[in-house]
Amino acid sequence: MNKINNLVKKGMNGLKSQKHRGENKQSSQERQLNVQEKLQKCSLCQDRGIIIENDGAKPCPCMKQKSFLNRFKNAHFTREMLKSSFEKFNFDYYDRNSMDRVKNISYYDSAMIAYNAARNFVTDFLKDAHTDGLLLTGQVGSGKTYLACCIANALMDKGVSVLMVVVPDLLDEIKATYDQGRSGSDYSEQQLLDSARQVDVLILDDLGAHNYTDWTRNKIFSIINYRLNNQLPTIITSNLSLKELKEYLGERTTSRIIQMCRVYRLIVDRDIRIVKRHEKEILNLIQR
Ligand SMILES: Nc1ncnc2c1ncn2[C@@H]1O[C@H](COP(=O)(O)OP(=O)(O)OP(=O)(O)O)[C@@H](O)[C@H]1O
Ligand SMILES: [Mg+2]
Ligand SMILES: [Zn+2]
Repeated sequence: MNKINNLVKKGMNGLKSQKHRGENKQSSQERQLNVQEKLQKCSLCQDRGIIIENDGAKPCPCMKQKSFLNRFKNAHFTREMLKSSFEKFNFDYYDRNSMDRVKNISYYDSAMIAYNAARNFVTDFLKDAHTDGLLLTGQVGSGKTYLACCIANALMDKGVSVLMVVVPDLLDEIKATYDQGRSGSDYSEQQLLDSARQVDVLILDDLGAHNYTDWTRNKIFSIINYRLNNQLPTIITSNLSLKELKEYLGERTTSRIIQMCRVYRLIVDRDIRIVKRHEKEILNLIQR
């Protein structure tokens, strides 16, 4: 019983300090809804931080998720991202009559294949945590991040630790640790890198055409290489083709990405953001 009490205490303390931090974040980024907020309503432990079983108690997986997330200032999902779900995935944005000439399938079929792969990833991961990851490619506004968020939400609902980081933000945060006094970063570079390396599922959003230096390339390599060696799945979204990825990131990293991720492409006639904007304007006109 003592053991259980200690675990409860530990769990609650973790939550308290985390709630405190969450408040600070909230005030500075009002529009952002932190993943932690969602996780505070943990369905597995009801936020106690432990799961009580017949033969005792064990820490709830959400605690691990929270400790990883606490380290990152930018690892939060926007309100819109949290709304993404497989159930709400809209196929209307992908034309049935436009053809991907390379694969000779329609944009719609291409989206369907990527969608099924994402769903399968979730079911496969829940059976075996060492399943292959996904590389979701496609042009701007084709739904790559949306699909990655569907995966993240589905897994987090099952208590899996998921870290979603936008690659340029991750690199900025790591850089900020070098100047702790000024940036107020609470964590070391090693701690941030370890989170990205070790989390159950890592989502690297927007691995794009940034100004890569040897330093940034090395950081990305070290994360990818660790995850490959430990067979930890990574979901990557990118606007770049494999050829371009190789140019920007180098062959060693790209070769590892190909080894650990299945590649899918989302293609649209028009940026979904623009389509949505038009839909909204039309709706406003009708409602007037
Ligand atoms: N299948 C979909 N169903 C519903 N909404 C979608 C879908 N795909 C994308 N969206 C919405 O369209 C917008 C753009 O999608 P998203 O951010 O996923 O694009 P992206 O491919 O990641 O673009 P970028 O390359 O600029 O990062 C978002 O507001 C997203 O919510
Ligand atoms: Mg995106
Ligand atoms: Zn929990």
